Amino acid sequence: MEQDLPRQPLDKNERISPEAEFISNEADYLKFLDRLYNEEGIDLAQYKQNQMRRRINMTIKQTGHNTYCSFLDYAKANENVYRKFIDRITINVSEFIRNPEKFTILETNYLRPMLKGNPNLTIWSAGCSTGEEPYSLALLLKLNKAGAGAKILGWDFDRKALAKAAEGIYNVEALKNVSKDLLDKYFKRLDSERYQVTDELKRLVRFENHNLLEDRFPTGVDIILCRNVVIYFNEQSKRQLFIRFGQALAKNGLLMIGASERIANSAESGLRALQPFFYVRNESDWPETKRTYPR
Ligand SMILES: C[S@@+](CC[C@H](N)C(=O)[O-])C[C@H]1O[C@@H](n2cnc3c(N)ncnc32)[C@H](O)[C@@H]1O
Repeated sequence: MEQDLPRQPLDKNERISPEAEFISNEADYLKFLDRLYNEEGIDLAQYKQNQMRRRINMTIKQTGHNTYCSFLDYAKANENVYRKFIDRITINVSEFIRNPEKFTILETNYLRPMLKGNPNLTIWSAGCSTGEEPYSLALLLKLNKAGAGAKILGWDFDRKALAKAAEGIYNVEALKNVSKDLLDKYFKRLDSERYQVTDELKRLVRFENHNLLEDRFPTGVDIILCRNVVIYFNEQSKRQLFIRFGQALAKNGLLMIGASERIANSAESGLRALQPFFYVRNESDWPETKRTYPR
């Protein structure tokens, strides 16, 4: 039946490696994609097939299942297995001050003027992975002398990623956009390859294990960052998410999304773009074009 097929066809031109061959057959795989889309809100058709099938095949084979759909039934009945599977297909890649030019815009156009109005901002990194994004925000708060009540929430549904975030140990590669001054001040050097975030910076961030598609959102948030998270959400889940982000924002709050993303339903979400990747609530006091914080 037509509606059993995923919304995007497999890319026939992609070279498929032996590890990424279908475990059973294409129909089973398509059915599996369709069920993930309809039942879990996850759109794996967005990903490169070779990469994704390799990842999934490895996980499924370890459980002894020989079709994708029987594995999904099994996983859904076993919380731990399901969790591990989601962890496996979720890509946690992050780094400090990811897309530095966007962070500069965030800092100069929004964060600084907002801090003048309210030094105790609440910032939410929704889909914070292993902590690089919330700690980058903590650095911005320190640099801009935020008030003692300023705080950052870091949400992710991947417990392993959150454990790593709480530990705060990073390889130099993830820190390449952090200046030497900030590195010296807010990180402890462990060895030639690794640094650990100091307690002073950690105190600004609270990590919580939540699912953005299920759990209740905070309200009155001043700045929400949701970047590189919705890549495999289906359209319906994305729409809902942005509507809920709109409701979570304080009246003059700001939503920042990923450098390759856009909100298709911004009007429905009650949001308007001040510039690409930066959105505010429709009824906020932010002027249409002049990007100064309303007083
Ligand atoms: C690629 S990382 C992005 C990290 C950071 N925002 C950045 O841009 O560098 C995506 C993160 O989103 C998390 N994520 C995906 N779906 C989620 C959901 N439904 N609820 C909570 N976190 C989710 C994943 O676990 C992963 O850690």
